[in-house]
Amino acid sequence: MKIAILPGDGIGPEVIDEACKVLKALALGVETETAPVGGAAYEASGVPLPEPTLALARAADAVLFGAVGDPRYDSLARALRPEQAILGLRRELGLFANLRPVHLYPELASASSLKPEIVAGLDLLIVRELTGDIYFGAPRGRRHAPDGAFAGALEGFDTMRYSEPEIERIAHVAFRAAEKRAGRVTSVDKANVLETSQLWRETVTRMASHYPRVALDHMYVDNAAMQLVRAPKSFDVIVTGNLFGDILSDEAAMLTGSIGMLPSASLDSHGKGLYEPSHGSAPDIAGKDLANPLATILSLAMLLRYSLDQEAVALKIEAAVQKVLASGLRTADIHAPGYQRIGCRAMGDAVVAAL
Ligand code: IPM
Ligand code: MG
Repeated sequence: MKIAILPGDGIGPEVIDEACKVLKALALGVETETAPVGGAAYEASGVPLPEPTLALARAADAVLFGAVGDPRYDSLARALRPEQAILGLRRELGLFANLRPVHLYPELASASSLKPEIVAGLDLLIVRELTGDIYFGAPRGRRHAPDGAFAGALEGFDTMRYSEPEIERIAHVAFRAAEKRAGRVTSVDKANVLETSQLWRETVTRMASHYPRVALDHMYVDNAAMQLVRAPKSFDVIVTGNLFGDILSDEAAMLTGSIGMLPSASLDSHGKGLYEPSHGSAPDIAGKDLANPLATILSLAMLLRYSLDQEAVALKIEAAVQKVLASGLRTADIHAPGYQRIGCRAMGDAVVAAL
């Protein structure tokens, strides 16, 4: 088995280092190979997703990804920006199913910005479609507006689109996940306004008949954003499109107190996947040993579970993280009075020691 390691930018390399420490300590005999991606790759070779990096990702059984992005590259043409690396990997590897579990560790209930009684025991899963929607829809671009009140003016445009098979395959992922959980799927759309969403809703509704043990309901995205902060425990699995899922998953992440705790998996239809922390590159704290490596370490656990079929090892890592939290160690993002504040490297060491 081979894992491609793509550290990327900002805090990416630091958090990846800690996850690699954990992988090494497990002594699974898994091979790893590292390659540059994002701004780091742009610096080295002029493009954010160099061909050898993509080739390595294709050849590996799974990809462990840090983060990409840095304000230094904000003025580059869109095709050269670091974000294009992750979007390109998702598209080229067909990673259409993004799983973002939102789990509140009981030890961190006080780190949430919501009242503990609203979030205690929170455990939901966001299933975000990742290779379609307005992110990838053509046509897109700039032109002079052909009509309307601002005809002739410069306008930017993007296209939101979803085909039936695309909706069906992500719905399958959500229903199957719900069968193993509390058996509820909430499909989030904007069917009161958008054609794309109307097709989405009809298609998901039709799929539900294949899953008699799962209860399906539908929610408009604005209401879902509200319910996530009003009664987050009312959700089990949320399935939604790429753009809505991007926004709702950041919102849901904050319910747990820190986005620094949340792993994610992006899977193709054969179980191959790219695993990355849900947080970004956080350039403001990069290189200061301040980042929380737990989201990346938990992403490694997801990698072992979904792509390497090592459920027992995944559970072991998750238990070690829980143990470290219970012992009172905290990185800055989840620190509160009464706990011991430590850096990124010490947190990685603590997880290895707990293992
Ligand atoms: C995410 C990120 C990406 C996205 C960016 C970096 C392109 O926000 O993974 O949620 O919008 O999908
Ligand atoms: Mg996002």
